[in-house]
Amino acid sequence: MNYVEHFKSKIDELKQEHRYRIFANLARTAGSFPRATYCDPDSGLMRQVDVWCSNDYLGMGQNDLVLRAIESALRECGAGAGGTRNISGTNKYHVELEKELASLHEKESALLFTSGYVANQAALSTLPRLIPDCVILSDGHNHASMIEGIRHSGCEKIIFRHNDLDHLERSLQAIPFARPKIIAFESVYSMDGDVSPVSAICDLAQSYGAITYLDEVHAVGMYGRRGAGVAERDGCMNRVTLIEGTLGKAYGVMGGYVAGSAPLIDALRSFAPSFIFTTAIPPYLAAGAIVSIKHLMKSSTERELQHQRAAELKDSLRVACLPVMPSTSHIVPVLVGDAVRCRRASDMLLETHQIYIQPINYPTVERGKERLRITPTPCHTKSDIDRLVAALLDVWRALELEFNNAIWTGAAAAAQ
Ligand SMILES: Cc1ncc(COP(=O)(O)O)c(C=O)c1O
Repeated sequence: MNYVEHFKSKIDELKQEHRYRIFANLARTAGSFPRATYCDPDSGLMRQVDVWCSNDYLGMGQNDLVLRAIESALRECGAGAGGTRNISGTNKYHVELEKELASLHEKESALLFTSGYVANQAALSTLPRLIPDCVILSDGHNHASMIEGIRHSGCEKIIFRHNDLDHLERSLQAIPFARPKIIAFESVYSMDGDVSPVSAICDLAQSYGAITYLDEVHAVGMYGRRGAGVAERDGCMNRVTLIEGTLGKAYGVMGGYVAGSAPLIDALRSFAPSFIFTTAIPPYLAAGAIVSIKHLMKSSTERELQHQRAAELKDSLRVACLPVMPSTSHIVPVLVGDAVRCRRASDMLLETHQIYIQPINYPTVERGKERLRITPTPCHTKSDIDRLVAALLDVWRALELEFNNAIWTGAAAAAQ
């Protein structure tokens, strides 16, 4: 076999389907977020751009308290953890961070992983395997890391229609009551920005003898009185069996975790290969995460401003008749509906308007649902929003993209 030609043809397939990913070379500068320096791959020229698609949702990646904690722990402990958690890699910062995470979610215990992806993959492949005859009910829009974990568990999987309580209940009814079941779902779905009915899913779990696994990756830090997520906001955190989260988004650092009862977490610690056989996160990251979590437990300023900015942006897009999708969270998706023009819209924003928004194409979203996924932060200003909406209008006209005609005849049309 000609291996090189084989892989080239695989890449060509991706390119033909407009699924080939191009990474923008963006230098983040602490203190300037959401501004970043973009390096043009052809000319090598650098220019400042506004980033509108970062998952550093609250700008905690440049928070001074977090940076100081990281600097100090880096000097104190050095660069790496020095081993797996089992072989000399456990440091006081890991231990303290796990206590902090357990306390955040009001659970007995928590376990750290190198990322949210690994946490999902590890938990959802390991726990079901430890439960004889287990069946997993998985929301149809669950993240790739959850799907991967469930697949590796080897357990029977039933996919219920996204956020569809009736379908979930019918699926539960079809399984004998005594058979062990796990309902795996997310709180905030990151591509549509919709939110699941956590409490109602817990009701169903209780009625049908299931346990619940909730991914709060796009909610921790941003929802609930102390930033513990949607389950905290909805007053049902104690009813969720396992809560999974990330330290890499609203907390601005890196790493993932699962929080739950002590025996469940101990089982994961003991049986999950992707926890045991990998180097622990560096102590300085754990130190930064502790400070970030503690800060957001006390301060609501960042999340309140973030929600305000998201509401302002959604309003401005609607007034401009741009097709903002019906999100109920801080995530603001704008529908393009075509892979080529989605890429082109992103390129035009960058080249002409110094605005960076990653195009979201298949397989991350269905074909025909390609979009720009915008994530306003407390660091974006009102005038940043005005500039963004003007730039989007320009791009929409240039590419002859569809406006939201339902309100197109209104005030915004007159302003054209
Ligand atoms: C729902 C969901 N879960 C888990 C992850 C993985 O988290 P991390 O980026 O910490 O690996 C992501 C990543 O975006 C996600 O969207």
